[in-house]
Amino acid sequence: MSIIDQLTIRPFTPEDLDSCLEIFDSNMPMDVLPNERGPFKEEVEQQQFDYFIVEDANGTAVACGGFHRPSATLCWGLVRRSHHRQYVGSFLLRERLLLLHEARGDVTVKLDTTQHARPFFERFGFITIREEMDHYGPGMHRFDMELKLDETCVNRLNSMLLG
Ligand SMILES: CC(C)(COP(=O)(O)OP(=O)(O)OC[C@H]1O[C@@H](n2cnc3c(N)ncnc32)[C@H](O)[C@@H]1OP(=O)(O)O)[C@@H](O)C(=O)NCCC(=O)NCCS
Repeated sequence: MSIIDQLTIRPFTPEDLDSCLEIFDSNMPMDVLPNERGPFKEEVEQQQFDYFIVEDANGTAVACGGFHRPSATLCWGLVRRSHHRQYVGSFLLRERLLLLHEARGDVTVKLDTTQHARPFFERFGFITIREEMDHYGPGMHRFDMELKLDETCVNRLNSMLLG
């Protein structure tokens, strides 16, 4: 059985904040920067968007991520570093896109990310529409990406992780 079969996703609750910060810290400074920690904590704590927790079979939070529903923008998708490259990020992304499609129907999904995660999103069909060098900090570039989310895309997402 793959780890994906054992993952579940549920809405964030205030009790999850420490786990989210732990997940954030596990990715610092390689993928997220110390100066982003304050805004991350504030935005998640104030629930400025729909935010979700991915748990493994033991109930451990292994990833978190969300979206801003009105603008269909994905935000703060983070996998615990010890769990990278085990398809947790794919699960989190698929679930968010399916939830967003349920909520908004066919829509253009947006996100911004770094040069490190850009290839991951390209695998799902996101394309880069804008880039800015050193936007997040020295050596940390910003890529604005988009995906047209429609029924075809949803069917592909559904089958992608099922094998
Ligand atoms: C980007 C991130 C979400 C990917 O999650 P993950 O669980 O490690 O990725 P998965 O295991 O689901 O990867 C699926 C496939 O994409 C590939 N992949 C994953 N991350 C990749 C990357 N950074 N570059 C290229 N390929 C990548 C995997 O190798 C895998 O390919 P395979 O099927 O050939 O084995 C995770 O690395 C992360 O949380 N990074 C830090 C935070 C971040 O940058 N978030 C991005 C938005 S703010």
